[in-house]
Amino acid sequence: MAALEFVLLWGSLSTGLAYQWPKTLLSSINPLIGSGGPEPNLSGGMIPSVGPPFASTRWVAQNQANYVSATPFNYTELYATNGSVHGFQGTRQPAIWMGESAWAAIVPGMTSGSPEDIIITDFDARGLPKIPGTETFGVALYSVGLTFPKFGGSTVNVLMSASSRVGHLQFTFEKGPEDSSAPYLFLPTTRPTTIFHNPNIFETIYPNGTVQISPENNEICGSNTEMQDWIIAPDSTKEAASHFTGWYCARFDTPFPIYGVTQGNTISEKANSGSGEEIGAYAQFEFPTQSNTVTINVRIGTSLISADQARYNLDAETSSFDISKTRVATENAWAEKIGRFQVETDGSSAADSNKTVFLTGVFHAMQYPYEVHEPTLGTPRYFSAYDNAIHDGESYSGYSIWDTYRAEWALTLLLAPERVPGMVRSMLQDYEEGGWLPMWKNMIETNIMVGTHADSLLAEAVLKGFGGGESGSGDIQPTFTAKELTTIWEAAWKDASVPPHGDDSGVDYEVRAGLSTFFAEKASGKGWVANDIHSESVSRTLDYAYDDHAVAVLSTRLPSHIVEAHTPNLLQLQAQFYGDSLKQNNVTTFLNDRALINPWTVWNTTASSPAVVTGGEDIKGFVQARQRDGSWAAPTDGFTEGDRWVYSFAFVHDIGELVKKRGGNESFSKSLDEFFDGGWVDFTNEPAHHTPYLYALAGAATYTQERVREMAYINYNNTPNGLSGNEDCGQMSAWYVFSAMGFYPVNPVSVNLPVPPFIPPSHWSIAKNQYYDQSTKSYVLRIRAPGAETKPYVRSLRINGRVVEAWEEPLISHDEIRYGGMLEFEMSETAENWGGGRGAWTRNVTDYASPSAFHLNGNVEHVEL
Ligand SMILES: *[C@@H]1O[C@H](CO)[C@@H](O)[C@H](O)[C@H]1NC(C)=O
Ligand SMILES: *[C@@H]1O[C@H](CO)[C@@H](O)[C@H](O)[C@H]1NC(C)=O
Ligand SMILES: *[C@@H]1O[C@H](CO)[C@@H](O)[C@H](O)[C@H]1NC(C)=O
Ligand SMILES: *[C@@H]1O[C@H](CO)[C@@H](O)[C@H](O)[C@H]1NC(C)=O
Ligand SMILES: *[C@@H]1O[C@H](CO)[C@@H](O)[C@H](O)[C@H]1NC(C)=O
Ligand SMILES: *[C@@H]1O[C@H](CO)[C@@H](O)[C@H](O)[C@H]1NC(C)=O
Ligand SMILES: *[C@@H]1O[C@H](CO)[C@@H](O)[C@H](O)[C@H]1NC(C)=O
Ligand SMILES: *[C@@H]1O[C@H](CO)[C@@H](O)[C@H](O)[C@H]1NC(C)=O
Ligand SMILES: *[C@@H]1O[C@H](CO)[C@@H](O)[C@H](O)[C@H]1NC(C)=O
Repeated sequence: MAALEFVLLWGSLSTGLAYQWPKTLLSSINPLIGSGGPEPNLSGGMIPSVGPPFASTRWVAQNQANYVSATPFNYTELYATNGSVHGFQGTRQPAIWMGESAWAAIVPGMTSGSPEDIIITDFDARGLPKIPGTETFGVALYSVGLTFPKFGGSTVNVLMSASSRVGHLQFTFEKGPEDSSAPYLFLPTTRPTTIFHNPNIFETIYPNGTVQISPENNEICGSNTEMQDWIIAPDSTKEAASHFTGWYCARFDTPFPIYGVTQGNTISEKANSGSGEEIGAYAQFEFPTQSNTVTINVRIGTSLISADQARYNLDAETSSFDISKTRVATENAWAEKIGRFQVETDGSSAADSNKTVFLTGVFHAMQYPYEVHEPTLGTPRYFSAYDNAIHDGESYSGYSIWDTYRAEWALTLLLAPERVPGMVRSMLQDYEEGGWLPMWKNMIETNIMVGTHADSLLAEAVLKGFGGGESGSGDIQPTFTAKELTTIWEAAWKDASVPPHGDDSGVDYEVRAGLSTFFAEKASGKGWVANDIHSESVSRTLDYAYDDHAVAVLSTRLPSHIVEAHTPNLLQLQAQFYGDSLKQNNVTTFLNDRALINPWTVWNTTASSPAVVTGGEDIKGFVQARQRDGSWAAPTDGFTEGDRWVYSFAFVHDIGELVKKRGGNESFSKSLDEFFDGGWVDFTNEPAHHTPYLYALAGAATYTQERVREMAYINYNNTPNGLSGNEDCGQMSAWYVFSAMGFYPVNPVSVNLPVPPFIPPSHWSIAKNQYYDQSTKSYVLRIRAPGAETKPYVRSLRINGRVVEAWEEPLISHDEIRYGGMLEFEMSETAENWGGGRGAWTRNVTDYASPSAFHLNGNVEHVEL
């Protein structure tokens, strides 16, 4: 919202000499945003890590041991002023409430060689105090100076950078005047670790691993079987996933005359290998005669395949021990994302701060899901924990889809189109190897959250052009083969039609648990997930309805012969749903009916809540859980990260009907007021994210303009506590990024900023498009909102020169900006009529250019702010 002028460039990832994107904005990113907070739920759960976009491992200074609810780095005032660093970790923990797996780490230390001065392995004991003022955070380089209290005056200066699968660190040890000590680098390889499982149990376990030391090659390699979330994987995948192993190979630029294996606190000097619990290895170095300093560079390759592959990754991604080369390569990778933005503000410090929140949002959003495939001479390959096998192809992990289907995926389609085919194929592989599309994949399915929103991801990707090439757009090159399109359909249709194994007892994969009671019988008056069988029943009912909508969209966008040939059981499901009377055999109609009928079965028209803040009549009509027999459960039952207030706004694919059910635009808007001002809104969790935009769909865009700023102000800022809730793989930030640009995908499968990376050079959007930029080979979307820093209201909008009249619905269509374009907002200090202003009911009819031109079309999408 600080955008005075805001330019977004996209496209252009293809051939030819790569454009050098500017790096200047990288220094505006604040990697500390979201790394602190009073407790795990009220923290971004992000870490100030280094590594390129979508990095396999991200490297971070550790100040606590990480596990579910604790990230490796937790910012506190105490840490900032007088903290200690306990090591440097390459982590794959994707979110604060998820587990770690296949990590690697390295810890500097010093010893005098006397018997009591041994390698310190214990996490707490090995911490080294920071030298005040030395710690710096960047996207590609972290640095810190540490002291050795037991060796007065001795220090180590650490630089840390990383490529996707390789940590690159430089340690410069300096000994104090009276020291004859020797520095070492310790590689903890297995550790006592904490796993979390039902019912709310934290348990310590001791994963096994191995270490191999090759002093002749200056190398230490190791393996570790830790995968904290294995415990919550579906039973059917547990055996295969139990073979999961992470590998690393560390190569030093300096020979190490002394080395050894550690196990717990036991040190075996000169041992070349070891295995088991709490295992580690160390390399000890000497200060050159006549010198008080020694600098050691180390590159640590990681792999999910083997130690050899870790070594291969090391050589493939980093060609030298010169850390500045690794840093520059990673900066260039970030510049390709961040440098696509040009944000101009009024230059005030408040505006600069907002700009930092915005750019850091892009930085967060472009980290997930993260790549787990590994390079070879030819096609990349990946280890799959679903079937304990190595396959050819690209694969990704860290899919928090219940969160990311809302806006993060839309942003990925826009900013990282080159990744989309691989990310989609990765989901298809999970389906083929594990039986279902992912829900929350953290190396393996974890059964966290509800719904099968991968359906939405697939539908949105296909809708935005990542399909097979459609009739009428023949010049768009197909992304997926007919076989892949078939798998896309089969997997989504399976979600929509097959209940999980054990649907009425303990499910294996959660997918659409309750589907057999939910979808079965409209004819006999059902249509909901029964609350006395399944937890989170209201959220499931609503989420499955939205997913049905997504699969319906998909059914219209895939080649019809594929859909017709691969929709088993349709007749039977229809007969069950409608009763026997209707046999139309049309999957689109069937899914649309389910999407538009079933969610309203949990709408209790007489349920009410006093309008405490807005006064007047009670707010009427709320979603409410229902039992198997149709009776209503308690109003507090059945919700996932929310309550009946926020879930009553969850009908994103049927907003028009929702507005009617709440009594029309005026009373619907008042219910939104009560939601925001009555203390019901909770932006720390995702179900609230689209709610500020709903006013605009009820003809009262002014309130959207105010609420979006209010939510941005309350929930985001440029400090370590600057995210009010968990980042959830980019969704918190994606909301901010879209909102600052001026719109939001309320119904993600209906609004698109399309990304056509497979457009041939002959396509008109390149050959004859004033918004195509030759030098950057990108489409340019220009968003102008002069004065937006202090003027929150919209007076007018022009899209590519076309005036969006005040009485029109404030919608921007996909086609208007899919190949770049120009949005020109005229801002105002006071509320305006544009987008319906404060609503027809509060204003003089004469204010309108054309009051009769109002029309109801609630179904879609986003607005401006
Ligand atoms: C960080 O550490 C502090 C101090 O131990 C703790 O109070 C806080 O809950 C932690 N924050 C997070 C997000 O874990
Ligand atoms: C917050 O954290 C607790 C555990 O401390 C968890 O049980 C609870 O579900 C979380 N709340 C939300 C809304 O995520
Ligand atoms: C800083 O922390 C160390 C422990 O790491 C402690 O001994 C020292 O007293 C602390 N100093 C201050 C000023 O708090
Ligand atoms: C580690 O190996 C030992 C010995 O084989 C075994 O008893 C233990 O269960 C293993 N630990 C884990 C976490 O699997
Ligand atoms: C299915 O119904 C939709 C309307 O809901 C229609 O557009 C489509 O053509 C129908 N498909 C078939 C195969 O009849
Ligand atoms: C709404 O729920 C209450 C119980 O909470 C129930 O008594 C009432 O009948 C429900 N209303 C409708 C229209 O079903
Ligand atoms: C409600 O608002 C929508 C969105 O602007 C508009 O299309 C519709 O005509 C309004 N309804 C009434 C009854 O004014
Ligand atoms: C900064 O963002 C807030 C919302 O967080 C907004 O209200 C304010 O106007 C912005 N300030 C500037 C100077 O851009
Ligand atoms: C309607 O117009 C009259 C006369 O201009 C003005 O006094 C009144 O405040 C207006 N009402 C609203 C709601 O704007």
